[in-house]
Amino acid sequence: MKEKIFIEGGKKLSGSIPIAGAKNSCLTLMPLSLLSDQALSLNNVPLLSDVHTMKELLESLGCEASFHNLKKTIKIKLLREGLFLADYNIVKKMRASILVLGPLLTRFGQGIVALPGGCAIGARPVDMHLMALEALGARFSIDKGYVKGMVAGSLKGCKIKFPFVSVGATANTIMAAVLAKGTTELVNAAREPEIIDLCKCLKSMGCEIEGEGENTIIIEGVTNLRETTHEVVMDRIELGTYIIAAAISDGEIKLTGGNIALLEAFINKLHEVGVEVTQASDHLRVKRLKSNVINCTNIVTEPFPGFPTDLQAQMMALLSIANGVSNIEEKIFENRFMHVPELIRMGANIKIDGRKAIISGVDQLKGAPVQATDLRASVSMVLAGLVANGNTVIDKIHHIDRGYENIIEKLTACGAVIKRL
Ligand code: UD1
Repeated sequence: MKEKIFIEGGKKLSGSIPIAGAKNSCLTLMPLSLLSDQALSLNNVPLLSDVHTMKELLESLGCEASFHNLKKTIKIKLLREGLFLADYNIVKKMRASILVLGPLLTRFGQGIVALPGGCAIGARPVDMHLMALEALGARFSIDKGYVKGMVAGSLKGCKIKFPFVSVGATANTIMAAVLAKGTTELVNAAREPEIIDLCKCLKSMGCEIEGEGENTIIIEGVTNLRETTHEVVMDRIELGTYIIAAAISDGEIKLTGGNIALLEAFINKLHEVGVEVTQASDHLRVKRLKSNVINCTNIVTEPFPGFPTDLQAQMMALLSIANGVSNIEEKIFENRFMHVPELIRMGANIKIDGRKAIISGVDQLKGAPVQATDLRASVSMVLAGLVANGNTVIDKIHHIDRGYENIIEKLTACGAVIKRL
């Protein structure tokens, strides 16, 4: 894959973009194939490198996976039992690999997963995953960079209170609890739409779960799961990113499959800054209320239903051309301002004070060579490049391919001048 993206800024986007299935949901659903010897079929699978990495990981754990590019489906079936090791060479590419730990422990009583380590956006430990799985009866040791989990007998349901909200720890614990003996109660669970999607799929496999989407989730363990086919929920982060693409370029876009309900806090902020987002039956329409006007605002990232951290960098690109001064406080990750120095290279006026960024809007961004640092940071540079005066070249764009399906094609179809170099 070519490593650079070139953008000639200043084109108003106009047209239609289809929204793909959610990366984060798909990566959480795929490990469910380890829970039984019945096939798991997923529809609306996004075409992303992370999905291929998860496929590779599941294959290394004994699954057979057939992926259909055109139909966007994947069928996964566990064929060979007795493989419990998630290798560092795969885990280092994608932190979501830790999501196989819960299923391995609950189904086979053992699982060995390379510790994911930190990443550009922060330390991102997995202590809460381990705490919750330990409460269910697993025992862990750390050896040569791997976490080794063992279960004597089977996992047993119990009450687990998370000290703060973690999407991954909630998902891992739910996947373990569905085959544990008795009742598990998760308090302070993540409420993200991707957790609801996970529970929907598990229920169609025969699991007993209540309260998904709320603070407390109750799971009654079962012994047998059945084959299922599940439609991956829409990618609300991809949707939010293209909403900003329309807004930043002062264009008008139709987003097919878009659903406002999964992004309320974000949409409210867009209304505040002067962007109109209207819902029709099967699509959203986005345009500025007044051409040339983006207002400033203040944002704090929070777990769902708050403003998503995964849209923080994109929103900062938009606010960098707003009238006045905006503040963004990043409360989920401690180091998620990697895009700031790059946006400054493009003429943005942004200061960082701890976990806060103070963005003084400028009249015009200017194209520049910049570097992608992580997935959402990279796409914020694409957005800035769309409105910048002149040409922008973004290096190290493999990050974008992890999370944005056909981004070049989707933006080109709306009139952007963007290509891989
Ligand atoms: C998921 C999403 C990611 C999103 C994030 C927050 C996937 C594949 N990724 O990541 O796109 O940005 O939710 O919405 O779904 N933490 C701990 N200990 C733990 C687990 C987490 O301290 O055991 C911390 C993290 O470092 C972070 C915070 O908790 O500061 C929230 O992280 P978490 O919700 O777990 O994020 P992920 O599940 O990794």
